[in-house]
Amino acid sequence: MSVTIKSPKEIELMRESCRLLSIVHEELGKIIRPGISTWEIDKRGEEIIRSFGCVPNFLHYEGYPASICVSVNEEVVHGIPSKKRILKEGDIVSLDAGLIYKGYHSDAARTYGVGIVSPLAQKLMDVTKQSFFEGIQYARAGHHLHEISVAIQKYCESYGFGVVRDMVGHGIGTHLHEDPQIPNYKPIGRGIKLRPGMTLAVEPMITAGGYEIAWLDDDWTVVTADGSLAAHYENTILITDGDPEILTLPASRNA
Ligand code: MF3
Ligand code: CO
Repeated sequence: MSVTIKSPKEIELMRESCRLLSIVHEELGKIIRPGISTWEIDKRGEEIIRSFGCVPNFLHYEGYPASICVSVNEEVVHGIPSKKRILKEGDIVSLDAGLIYKGYHSDAARTYGVGIVSPLAQKLMDVTKQSFFEGIQYARAGHHLHEISVAIQKYCESYGFGVVRDMVGHGIGTHLHEDPQIPNYKPIGRGIKLRPGMTLAVEPMITAGGYEIAWLDDDWTVVTADGSLAAHYENTILITDGDPEILTLPASRNA
């Protein structure tokens, strides 16, 4: 599949898909507390998505069994929600969610602390989130894709954190995963030239240790190979003639 340029009409549908997803995240952020199960988070997320008349795009994607990926501590991404997994004070939890609105996909992730977390966990979450903003300074027409990747990597590694290499961001639109792949580290070459109308999911996955990952026996949950903590922050963005539009953040915070 080649990189798609969305028409003004498609951009409107992407905006709405992403706006609704930002509400899902705002609501889920409010229920994170010690004692809640990761299953409850998934159920609430699915309920909100369906209340909009939308469909959770992760559910049954390549067999994934839930609507929200809930990844705790050393879990990087794709954690499977479970009634037995109860969040406790000091955990960090990444929520990755997406939905389909009138055929258009949105995708975003946030990492939260559960109650009070260690200074290291807080730093990891802060740096992971900020690295997204460092990266998208280069998400401008005429720049090359890998400028985003390099900026994310430099920022995170300057704090001694690990940048996951085996998982990448992606184009998004009528499919959850479209071209191009968007690494969070410097790959070979400079990548495609960015053009207005591209919609991209930029998603740093960062660890407090090494960048190597492993899979649990459920064949989904990605964990850090060294057991270090991991954080994930993702938004769907639009390349414009000027500043990128962060579609999955509420408009008021989209400077
Ligand atoms: N946000 C994830 C991504 O960008 C989607 C989760 S994959 C699923 O790849 F299978 F869990 F849906
Ligand atoms: Co994604």
